[in-house]
Amino acid sequence: MKEVIKLTNIIDAHVHLRTIADKRMPLCTPHTAKFVSGMLPMPNTNPHIYTSEDARKYRQEIELVLKHFELLGTVDIFPTIYLTPQTNVNDLVAGYLAGDVFSCKQYPRGATTNSAEGVSGIKEMFPIYQVMEKYGIPLHVHCEMPMDVDVDIFDSEKFAIQEMLIPILDNFPNLKVSMEHITTKKAAELVSSGRYPNLVATVTPQHLLYDRNKMLRGGLDSNLYCMPILKRKEHMEAIRNAVKNDERGVFLCGTDSAPHFKTDKNECGCAGVYSAPVFVEAYVKAFMEMNVLEKLQAFMSDNFCKFYGYTVPEAMQKTVVVEQVEPWKVPDVYDGIVPLFHGEELNLKARLQ
Ligand code: DOR
Ligand code: ZN
Repeated sequence: MKEVIKLTNIIDAHVHLRTIADKRMPLCTPHTAKFVSGMLPMPNTNPHIYTSEDARKYRQEIELVLKHFELLGTVDIFPTIYLTPQTNVNDLVAGYLAGDVFSCKQYPRGATTNSAEGVSGIKEMFPIYQVMEKYGIPLHVHCEMPMDVDVDIFDSEKFAIQEMLIPILDNFPNLKVSMEHITTKKAAELVSSGRYPNLVATVTPQHLLYDRNKMLRGGLDSNLYCMPILKRKEHMEAIRNAVKNDERGVFLCGTDSAPHFKTDKNECGCAGVYSAPVFVEAYVKAFMEMNVLEKLQAFMSDNFCKFYGYTVPEAMQKTVVVEQVEPWKVPDVYDGIVPLFHGEELNLKARLQ
């Protein structure tokens, strides 16, 4: 067995852990929690995480699951709330100052799973951004157009950059903004350009590894269907290029691992790629293909810590070793959920040191 890389204090800055009630949280949480020092769970749960009280309760729910798997205290949780025009700023600030809320996530109305209550126009959000900017509360943006706008889904991110993201950045230059799961050349270039010093982006493993052919050619693979959808090869290459040449530390690990039961995927093709069981191997594979393994530590952890001014507590520090191993077959399904690389052979394996 040959060691490929050691990674310390991995942080998944965008992951869907779901809930105990919908049965997915106990299935998917250990896959992520085992290897990370921190995780930022998305608030589009059912019911959504709207208030600081919801965020506090959601943290407790995650902690219950972590405790069950003897992982409590080994991973930090960064609770984020689901921003809507009705978000109560007094509650948000109180929650932030109390440490119950880390940040806010903005969904475009109707554009993805559980986003019907999201944002349709950003102007109405300006008073909320103003308060967030004042207190240093970060904003995570799902950058696509709301469902009621007639736009081709392959162009949705591009339009939303122009119509939503740039106006936010121009009007709130001190607001910390993370553009989530970028999928286009335009996004990659905007983030790396440095035009907005407070802008970073998360990048998923699937958007680093694949273009849309992988999902569409030779039969539709709904397990690779996610929002924002995989784009043309030139976009994947632009993202790779930006990540490869990232000197400013603006690209962050955010798997967007989004578990849906196989039965639900079959029925409605719900959006989401379940990468949690293999996410470390997936990023290592991508960075090996890009020939920049030496950039992976910054991407997986350091860039997050630098941007958010975060230090990993001693009890949560972890080292993950990734080794080259005899090819092993990734299971077709984990607990009823089809993972990334399902049925494929991998010759990389992550383990805790
Ligand atoms: O593919 C996606 N799945 N994109 C999202 O924005 C939401 C996520 C989910 O919750 O399933
Ligand atoms: Zn997501």
